[in-house]
Amino acid sequence: MTIQNNCSLLGHNTFGIDCHANRMVEYQTVEELQTFIHQRNAEGDTTPLLHIGGGSNLLFLQDFAGTVLHSRMQEIFVTSNEGDYVYVRVTAGIQWDAWVQYAVDSNWFGLENLSLIPGEVGAAAVQNIGAYGSEAKDFIIFVDAVDLQTGEIRHFTADECRYGYRDSIFKHELRGRYAVTHVHFRLSHAFRPLLEYGGIRRALKERGIEEINLTSRQLRQVIIDIRRSKLPDPATIGNAGSFFTNPIVPRSQYLDIAATYSDVPHYDVDADHVKIPAGWMIEQCGWKGRHLGRAGVYDKQALVIVNLGGATGQEIFALCQRIQADVNEKFGIKIQPEVNLIG
Ligand code: EPU
Repeated sequence: MTIQNNCSLLGHNTFGIDCHANRMVEYQTVEELQTFIHQRNAEGDTTPLLHIGGGSNLLFLQDFAGTVLHSRMQEIFVTSNEGDYVYVRVTAGIQWDAWVQYAVDSNWFGLENLSLIPGEVGAAAVQNIGAYGSEAKDFIIFVDAVDLQTGEIRHFTADECRYGYRDSIFKHELRGRYAVTHVHFRLSHAFRPLLEYGGIRRALKERGIEEINLTSRQLRQVIIDIRRSKLPDPATIGNAGSFFTNPIVPRSQYLDIAATYSDVPHYDVDADHVKIPAGWMIEQCGWKGRHLGRAGVYDKQALVIVNLGGATGQEIFALCQRIQADVNEKFGIKIQPEVNLIG
């Protein structure tokens, strides 16, 4: 276990916000995490705890007056490999894309469309990351977690995780209560590419790849290329991917909007609900490529807020609020941050 007091969080958030935590604790094993919890209880320490992954989906609004926890556990372990599927237990601290690469290299199929998503495996299971028609929940069987109040280990089936669009029980009733330590995946031995999402088939055609000959490595590369063309690399420009979720609205509200904007992109959720891309609405409000102080809206994808250099969490948040107000005024829809606001 490594403990650092007054720890800089600059390297622990992809927005590149320069702030500090009172303490940072990184653990190498589940037992170390449990020891930390028992010691904290024995000392009567009630200061806030925040468990982070790669820091790619959070925004620090100020210094964190508590302890930040992070897993350094790095293991990919096959628990069963019979029949049509392979079952793999992956520790929360592994980079999500390193896991996808490992799976593709092992000829375990399913995760290709989730290539290059920043962050770590544990956070992916909390957030139910998704892209290009796939979601993490499609492959998660159960997760192992440690109760941060008692140190007890608990297993959650995928049903118990109550997965939804960028959502799980760990973002609601159990927010802050558990640290996910391992995620158990089920991947397939048969490659069944998912190509429906806009842009994939076009990208294949541009590369002269026929669907019948497509390999999982090629599909992963295509997804990586598409993402790189739209989304900023956090190593170069601070950001946390999509800043807002795409709102799900009643169909009647969508029809009202479509009466004015006939080209509004949309996805049917069910008979009564429609999802409208927030990026489209933000662009319609004229925010794409604009900035407020050192916080900007990415010029290739309006759903992404970027740190133009040295922005504080408050500056990013101020832009978030301006965008929310403008979208609400124009469309009557309150878009919500996907990014976790801390502070
Ligand atoms: N659009 C615009 N202007 C923009 C951005 C988007 O008009 O500036 C329109 C596009 O033309 C398209 C629609 O909005 O018709 C959807 O755009 P896109 O395919 O880029 O996806 P998105 O809905 O903006 C979601 C996820 C992304 C994921 C992509 C691809 C959410 C919150 N975001 O974005 O996830 O990569 O689909 O599957 O659901 C993330 O969560 O951090 C993330 C990057």
